[in-house]
Amino acid sequence: MASMLIAHISDPHIVEQPKLCYDTVDTRANLARVLARIETMRPTPDLVVLTGDLVDEPSAEAYATLRETLGSLSIPLILLPGNHDDRALLAKSLPEHNYLPQGGGKAHFVIDRTDAPLIVGFDAVVPGCEHAFVGNEELDWLAQALGGNSSRPTMLMMHHPPVHTGLAFMDAMQPPLDPRFESLIARHRQVRLIVCGHVHRTIDAVFGGTRVAVSGSTGFQFEFALDPNTPPRFSLETPSIRLHHWNGESVTSFTAPLAENWPSFGFPGVNEATWPEMMRRMRDGASRNDVYTPETAAEG
Ligand SMILES: [Fe+2]
Repeated sequence: MASMLIAHISDPHIVEQPKLCYDTVDTRANLARVLARIETMRPTPDLVVLTGDLVDEPSAEAYATLRETLGSLSIPLILLPGNHDDRALLAKSLPEHNYLPQGGGKAHFVIDRTDAPLIVGFDAVVPGCEHAFVGNEELDWLAQALGGNSSRPTMLMMHHPPVHTGLAFMDAMQPPLDPRFESLIARHRQVRLIVCGHVHRTIDAVFGGTRVAVSGSTGFQFEFALDPNTPPRFSLETPSIRLHHWNGESVTSFTAPLAENWPSFGFPGVNEATWPEMMRRMRDGASRNDVYTPETAAEG
């Protein structure tokens, strides 16, 4: 696997046009803005992953609106359902995502692209419920999916984070998961990253020794609140996009804000002509003062 850049977004909560989500948020327009931003990023992401709650209330119309909105994306997309979705209706409405089982079966999948980490979609959603559940059936499937590929860097996709995040009202809805799940992850060191959503905030955590990267929602966030006595509120702060950069073996994660029109300015003495020599000096061990001064750059 060569290096690869994966854009990670979540929880668009699309409602059918022209409705607003919770009568307030134009989640369709918000998703469209995020997709447009991803399209114009440089470097351009190679792949987009979307970790569930694709619609707010499942209906054929909502999924049709989702499909139309996603249609603007020219980059390959992998998605899975969340607790707001209907597996059967999703698979029927977006048939191009043919790794999703038809008929409402669990959306477990393994996607093996030569240019990417092994991508394992793991469905711990309980239809009609807010919380995730991992039992014998789920553990057996995951053990099999991970067991045959022990040397291949792997990214696990799921909707719910497998950890309590500290957002009190979300944690309250999630009973502890079976500890065998964490042990299973700990035994499979090839799982370098678990990407998920659900909590509508950008969060990082560790589970079974592996990093968990949670993407906020493209539509609306949950206000940051750790106090269980504080009633939860929606927040219309700017969404952000997670960028997972795989170098072939390991992965680092960035966060890009939605806006793209902020000003930027150059380092002293750094331009297209001076940069190659300055980079060479740094790689040879030059200190910052040897490189980032107009005088040194002029000498180079
Ligand atoms: Fe959500």
